[in-house]
Amino acid sequence: MNYRHAFHAGNFADLVKHAALTLLLEAMTADPAPLSVIDTHAGAGLYDLGDDMAKKSGEAAVGIARLIAAPDAPRAFDALKAAVAEANPEGGLRLYPGSPALIGRALRKADRYIACEIRDDDVALLRQTLAPYPGAQAVQADGFATAVERMPAIGRVLVLIDPPFERADDYANIAATMAAVRARNPAAAVAAWLPLKDLETFDAFLRSLEPAGAGALVAEARLKPLTDPMKMNGCAMVIAGAPASLEAPLQAACDWVVARLGSQGGKARLWRLA
Ligand SMILES: C[S@@+](CC[C@H](N)C(=O)[O-])C[C@H]1O[C@@H](n2cnc3c(N)ncnc32)[C@H](O)[C@@H]1O
Repeated sequence: MNYRHAFHAGNFADLVKHAALTLLLEAMTADPAPLSVIDTHAGAGLYDLGDDMAKKSGEAAVGIARLIAAPDAPRAFDALKAAVAEANPEGGLRLYPGSPALIGRALRKADRYIACEIRDDDVALLRQTLAPYPGAQAVQADGFATAVERMPAIGRVLVLIDPPFERADDYANIAATMAAVRARNPAAAVAAWLPLKDLETFDAFLRSLEPAGAGALVAEARLKPLTDPMKMNGCAMVIAGAPASLEAPLQAACDWVVARLGSQGGKARLWRLA
């Protein structure tokens, strides 16, 4: 449990994940029926990019800072940019909204949100982040188990799975959770974030999704060729139950991240699992 998302907040991987998340929220709240959201690995919710952790990594400077300054960012990033502007009413880029802040601001009166976080320090910050949203609840518990236990059997549900990949069983836990929640509610949208290191690991993970993941949307942002398995060479979102309306804007988001934040040999790819 050493992982702190504060080192990575606003990096290229957050941009891909948060574009996908906000596009899903936009699509799912276009329907007036209430929405339930479960965030298995929520983190602190809001990150101070001026603190030592963020400054040490410098990842936001080559992520969200470049996006905010870009004249050519696609509309897929509009909601994220609006959330950044709301978090920084004085202007500038001091605070970066994580998934809890992005979900919180999208909630309507009848919507419900369960945010799971295991660390004492981050769950305390998460409670502060969620305080303005009456439909939101922070839970200090394992997110994989909580998603299955608290999964509504009916109604519209979005599950975000975003583990730190510190443990070798995170891949297996994602696949098992996706299968279990889709078995309980086949209409649920389940979005998982993954690092792209080498193709073998990613392909094995995708195979492990069968059959629950059939038809899932896979959005890959490879910043460079996947030749060094020790490095995070890119990232992917795998989204079961993704609406077709997500495809074009998410492709545009991945294209932008690869073109503007990647290096030679990078590649963006969007496709569906058979
Ligand atoms: C990648 S970060 C989450 C970032 C967040 N989803 C966002 O987009 O802003 C992963 C978080 O999961 C937490 N965590 C690790 N194991 C967990 C578990 N079993 N259940 C819930 N949270 C866990 C870590 O402490 C960390 O804050």
